[in-house]
Amino acid sequence: MAPVPAPGRPHRDHAVTVTAAGLAACGLRLDIAGEVATVTLSRPERRNAMTPAMWHGLAAIGADLPPPVRVVVVRGAGPSFCAGIDLRMFSAEGVPGEAPPPRPADPGFEGWIAGCQEGYLWLRDPGIVSVAAVQGHAIGAGFQLALACDLRILSDDAKLCMKEPALGLVPDLTGTKPLVDIVGLPRAIEMCLTARTVPAEEASRLGLAELLVPAADLDAAVADLTAALLETDAGTARATKRLLAQAAANTLEQQAAAERRAQAALQRERLARS
Ligand code: ACO
Repeated sequence: MAPVPAPGRPHRDHAVTVTAAGLAACGLRLDIAGEVATVTLSRPERRNAMTPAMWHGLAAIGADLPPPVRVVVVRGAGPSFCAGIDLRMFSAEGVPGEAPPPRPADPGFEGWIAGCQEGYLWLRDPGIVSVAAVQGHAIGAGFQLALACDLRILSDDAKLCMKEPALGLVPDLTGTKPLVDIVGLPRAIEMCLTARTVPAEEASRLGLAELLVPAADLDAAVADLTAALLETDAGTARATKRLLAQAAANTLEQQAAAERRAQAALQRERLARS
C-alpha cells in the first residue's frame, strides 16, 4: 500500500528532473544566462494552463537554481501569460499523463496542495529577485504566479483575474497574502469575490505592476530592469531584500535593530573578503 502522506506536509506526486526534456514534459522551459534565469511557461496552445506537474516542475527549478543566479524572470509563451489551472483537471478524464489529485477527504489533501505551493514560494527567496513579465491573461493560478514574484511588469494588454471563487475554490497558491499586502483588504475582497477581470491600467494604479509598458516593449523593459537590478552588488542586494521582507512584520524598533544587524554583518563580511 502506498504510504499516506501526513496532513499539511508537502507532497508531490512525482519528482521532475531539471533537464530540458524533464521540464518540457511539464510545460516549462528554463534558460540560464549567468546571473539571470528565465522560466517560461511553454504551453501556448493551452494558454499555458497549469497542472500539478508544472507546479512541481517550478518547485524543482527553485530547488536546483545555480547559486550565481540573482534574477529570475517568469514569463509565458504566446498571447497569454497563463490561463490558470488546466480545467481538464476537473473533468472525469483528467489531464493525460497526470495523476489525479487526491480527494478532499483524503488525509494527504492539504499536503498535496503544499507540494503545489512549493512551485510558488521559492520565488520570494532572499537570494533572488523574481520578476513576472505579464502579457495577456493572468487568470487564477496564473495571477497567483505573478503575485508570487517580487516585481511585476505588465504589458498594456494584461488582464488579471482571481477566478477561483467563481469556480467554488479559494485561491490557494500563495496569492492571497501578496494580493492583500499590495491592494489592501477591501480591494482584495472585491477583486476575489467578484472574480472580475482587472485591466492592466487599473492593475498598475492598484500597485500590481512596478512597470506598465506597451506590449511591444515588454522584452526591452524586462532586459532594462534586469540590467538595473544586476548593477547592485550581489551581497548588498540579498541583505537588503532580506531586510525589506521582514519590515511589515516588525515594529519600528525591531526593524531598526534588524537594519543595524544587517549592516554590521554585511560590512564585516566585506572586510573579511578584502
Ligand atoms: N485549461 C485548459 N485549457 C485551456 C485553458 C485552461 N485553463 N485555457 C485555455 N485553454 C485552451 C482552450 O480550451 C483552447 O483549446 P482548443 O484550441 O483545443 O480549443 C486553447 O487553450 C486556446 O484557448 P482560447 O479560449 O481559444 O483562447 P483565447 O485567447 O480566446 O482565450 C482565455 C484565452 C481568456 C484565457 C480563455 O481560454 C479562458 O477563459 N480560459 C479559461 C480560464 C480559467 O477559467 N482558468 C481557471 C482559473 S481558476 C484557477 O486557476 C485555480
